[in-house]
Amino acid sequence: MRQENELIRLDNVKVTYPAGTEALKDINLSVQKGEFMFVVGSSGSGKSTFIKTLLGEVKAASGRLLVAKHDLGRMKRRELPYYRRTLGVVFQEFRLLDDRNVYENVALAQRVIGVSSDKVRRNVMQMLEMVGLDERKRAYPKELSGGEQQRVAIARAMVNRPSILLADEPTGNLDPKNSWEIMNLLEEMNQLGTTVIVVTHNNEIVDKLKKRVVTLNKGEIINDEVQGGYIQ
Ligand SMILES: Nc1ncnc2c1ncn2[C@@H]1O[C@H](COP(=O)(O)OP(=O)(O)O)[C@@H](O)[C@H]1O
Ligand SMILES: [Mg+2]
Repeated sequence: MRQENELIRLDNVKVTYPAGTEALKDINLSVQKGEFMFVVGSSGSGKSTFIKTLLGEVKAASGRLLVAKHDLGRMKRRELPYYRRTLGVVFQEFRLLDDRNVYENVALAQRVIGVSSDKVRRNVMQMLEMVGLDERKRAYPKELSGGEQQRVAIARAMVNRPSILLADEPTGNLDPKNSWEIMNLLEEMNQLGTTVIVVTHNNEIVDKLKKRVVTLNKGEIINDEVQGGYIQ
């Protein structure tokens, strides 16, 4: 059923890698605007492939994939950069530029899309305040803790105000305290209206937050619950 507030929709999506691995088999999924959703499942179940497919990095072999009114199967290569602006993404290993300071790491995301310099300053500082790192703006990634680096990555992902924030195991390299801080920050972004999809192995956090949980197993959705828990 097609709904007014549907932001992401997958109909019978199948993703096959060149070697022949069917990483996603027959995915049917609908995500509403403003949802917070966890994606869980054992290693190799297709979680990262799911994120990459949404990013347009991996093409579906068949099926239909609609994201923010874009039909990914029909999208031209040159449209991809524009499409990507609707998405923010955060990874387990932070992926910050080590030779740029905190401010520059976040500002670059704005400069590449041509935002004027006074607006860049305002938007970057606003995001850094939001993640609690405005006073560390001149620090380099190596001078920050893992939790702080991930907060910079979230600021960078959010600075262009994407409608969707994707996070692939964002707390995979963090201790429990920092993991909670990052999850709380992702929840805050969600409360501000961003649709958030988080791949995680953190069963404690998944069980406590009572969000929607989609469980993948061997490329298939085996469970999809509104206030779900972590299934081993
Ligand atoms: N670039 C790739 N080329 C070939 N096979 C891949 C590639 N990336 C992932 N796979 C395979 O696809 C399946 C799903 O992988 P992935 O999406 O990374 O799972 P997860 O993130 O849940 O651990 C696995 O069998 C994996 O080996
Ligand atoms: Mg993965």
